[in-house]
Amino acid sequence: MTVHTPENIVFATNNAHKLEELREIVGGRLNVLSLSEIGCHDDIPEDAPTLEGNALTKARWVRERYHVSCFADDTGLEVDALGGAPGVHSARYAGGAGHDAAANTARLLRELADVPAPRTARFRTVIAYIDPDGREHLFHGKVEGEILTAPAGDGGFGYDPVFRPKGWTRSFAQASPDEKNAVSHRGNAVRAFTAFLLSDKPVHPSE
Ligand code: IMP
Repeated sequence: MTVHTPENIVFATNNAHKLEELREIVGGRLNVLSLSEIGCHDDIPEDAPTLEGNALTKARWVRERYHVSCFADDTGLEVDALGGAPGVHSARYAGGAGHDAAANTARLLRELADVPAPRTARFRTVIAYIDPDGREHLFHGKVEGEILTAPAGDGGFGYDPVFRPKGWTRSFAQASPDEKNAVSHRGNAVRAFTAFLLSDKPVHPSE
């Protein structure tokens, strides 16, 4: 039998929301640790030109320095009318230190001010995993949709208030976490990854 996974695996993040999501999906079958739980408080560079590059850089950084099995993710919003921007620069689209969701969203709406609907776009997530033998694996997830002309809803995070998935009448920020996860870029990437990861982990009746 091929064994893909260790008992302990590090998710190269300190984002509590992402960690919780992962732990719910894998149940008790794997012990998923955050960076702070392994004593890693490094400022890991995220300056690769692609989502794949950033996810791999983060996973390699942790494996090389902390000698643990590790996976990392990176996400971007690709808007067709902007030639795929903000893409890999989504977190810092409005400049500064980044992760200012209101400023990023405001810039996006400004850039699209003269673009008629539908302003088609997609979220893409890449997960990079380095297995116990040092082999690298990539998993992808995406969701197609369009950019609204004004924010709608106050749930979710980041660009959620201005992103409406294809076939929906509401934005991601108007959906429950379960509704979003069922179709989202990250949900799809995580499901592909965990299916691989857990393919050699039996589900015990007590779990
Ligand atoms: P990260 O790679 O997960 O840190 O994502 C980069 C940026 O993409 C974040 O700062 C957010 O602005 C945006 N982003 C990532 N995932 C989502 C999402 O699920 N909804 C809305 N925005 C997101």
